[in-house]
Amino acid sequence: MFEAKLKDVPFFSKLSKRELATVAQQADEVDVGVGRALAVEGEFGREFFVILDGTAEVLRGDTVIAELGPGEFFGEMALLDEDRRTATVKSISPMKVLVMTRQSFRDIDRAMPEINAAVLEAINQRRAALQAANAG
Ligand code: CMP
Repeated sequence: MFEAKLKDVPFFSKLSKRELATVAQQADEVDVGVGRALAVEGEFGREFFVILDGTAEVLRGDTVIAELGPGEFFGEMALLDEDRRTATVKSISPMKVLVMTRQSFRDIDRAMPEINAAVLEAINQRRAALQAANAG
């Protein structure tokens, strides 16, 4: 059931059955209320999130720099790159998210090239956007 649902998330759509089973084993599905900070700028990050339902805003200080919705992910930068959260990510609607620990995310990122490519692309784009936000 959970695996069938994962298959419909674009981020996971290219994975084999076996890979989907691994992801399903490593991830928890969590319901989140409105107004919760799932990542806090400057804090150490321990989890990676994929949005199944709902919307979150990405904030640098008080400025909203992006909105993220179903199929999008966040929390990868602190886990792979920086240690500390580059931005705050807050729910602006009720959400359903998939949560993975740092270790599970790193294992999956290392073992599954499709995931690694999508994550790297996002990190490059997001880093550029963060630099632009800093400059502006
Ligand atoms: P991390 O730094 O772990 O925690 C905050 C997250 O916000 C970050 O990972 C990214 O997943 C996300 N993020 C940062 N900058 C952007 C951006 N410009 N657009 C979308 N998401 C972003």
